Amino acid sequence: MKYLIGVDLGTSATKTILMDQEGRIEASAVRSYPLYEPANGWAEQDPHDWRDAVMATIKEVVQKAGVPAEDVAGIGLSGQMHGLVMLDKDGQVLSRSIIWCDARAKKQEDEMFGIMPAEAWMEHTNNPPLAGWTAAKLLWVRENQPDLYAKCRHILLPKDYVRYELTGVFATDVSDASGMQMLDVRNRCWSREVLSRLQVDEELLPEVYESPDITGSLRPEIAAKLGLTACTAVAAGGSDNACAALGTGVVEEGQAFTTIGTSAVIYTHLDHYTQIPGGGLHMCCCAVPGCWHTMGGPQSAGLSVEWFKNGFCQDLEMQAEAEKRSFYDLMNDLAENVPVGSDKLIYLPFLMGERTPHLQADYRGAFLGLNTVHTKAHMLRAIMEGIVYCLTDCNELLKGQGVRVRTMRACGGGSKSPLWRQMMADLYECEVRTLCQEEGPAYGGAILAGTGTGVFSSVPDACARFIKEKDCTLPDAGKTKVYREYHRIYKRMYEALLDGYLELAKVD
Ligand code: XUL
Repeated sequence: MKYLIGVDLGTSATKTILMDQEGRIEASAVRSYPLYEPANGWAEQDPHDWRDAVMATIKEVVQKAGVPAEDVAGIGLSGQMHGLVMLDKDGQVLSRSIIWCDARAKKQEDEMFGIMPAEAWMEHTNNPPLAGWTAAKLLWVRENQPDLYAKCRHILLPKDYVRYELTGVFATDVSDASGMQMLDVRNRCWSREVLSRLQVDEELLPEVYESPDITGSLRPEIAAKLGLTACTAVAAGGSDNACAALGTGVVEEGQAFTTIGTSAVIYTHLDHYTQIPGGGLHMCCCAVPGCWHTMGGPQSAGLSVEWFKNGFCQDLEMQAEAEKRSFYDLMNDLAENVPVGSDKLIYLPFLMGERTPHLQADYRGAFLGLNTVHTKAHMLRAIMEGIVYCLTDCNELLKGQGVRVRTMRACGGGSKSPLWRQMMADLYECEVRTLCQEEGPAYGGAILAGTGTGVFSSVPDACARFIKEKDCTLPDAGKTKVYREYHRIYKRMYEALLDGYLELAKVD
């Protein structure tokens, strides 16, 4: 029997699984780490925390599963996208990573439109310049921390930094590299044109692979620490969203999933390359070789819930602890008892600015319609609804592109909530299905490791064998009618507040 390890390097934690060649999970482990927010709109993490969490969780699953080290064929890495990790000439981390939801590089985003017109960015990278993507962050560092930039010899994404620590190899994969704004997404290689316009030396970038390709094997000293052998292969892996697609079996056109984690994303698989006019949705290479995907959704999904919980819900946290259940179960029960539309309360989930469907890093969050009847329960439900309104906007953009979604699957922490799934079904007006495998990106990572090492014949084949649907949530026509009205008003509020937010961003 062969075994595979899948690592999901997320924003709140790293989750790692060890599965056998029949797709059964033998062991899993989780380690969390802090998110630093030193200023309004800034978000950073320490790459050493990622490395330590990945090492600790791999070691734990190997120990728990107790399988022979030589039977562990490979490791597949899935990672949070867009983060900037810079290493010096000795491979040492130069600073904390500016991560995906950081909105500080708005000025650099604007400058990028000056470097090349929007149409050219769409032509070369299939996405418009975005403050949250890696290239704008790199320009921010070059402008604001020139000493640091001068020392930089390697630019890596979060999971690729961890790969370097595990294997000594500088490599990335096409799905994650798509979110750096320097990849030619059509031809699946670095765009020489973009690099020359940005004046970024290709030498700084890692080599690009298709997701199942093997990029190297464990350094002997690392293998010894993990309880593995130096023959353990490390696959290129993928972005967390591309890997979640494999973990939810979304590998054919017409299939889609929604994930609600720290961010929320609605993702569709595409067998063919296409352009999304205006860039209201991201277009990236996917982890199935030769295929692509679209994605969009609010950056601050679970992040909104965490912000509200940590700042304002100590009483509910104590109540949940006294009742020996999770805060999220309590949140669901409380929100369930509030009517659709949260009794005329609308939440705009743009705490860290937004990229899809609105390209506006200076936007911020809001509760609109507050009244003395509203309680924390109303606010929690409004947060849940606001996130699905934003996802629905992205879904409508997809429909406008003629992308017909036949099945919508749900994953991520949020999909465990029946209330959230019902909101999706009602607003998307389609069935929402859950899966027997709940590990999403980590499961996808393990499938990539299995495909790269020849344990599985192909990614779609492994998905067809292992990914099975569980529950189905049907839309409720009565609720859809009410939600449509609220969703219409939500959209109006976005437009109405925009100028005010732009002014607010300029206040010194
Ligand atoms: C997608 C995105 C997030 C991160 C973190 O563009 O930024 O989904 O990958 O999960």
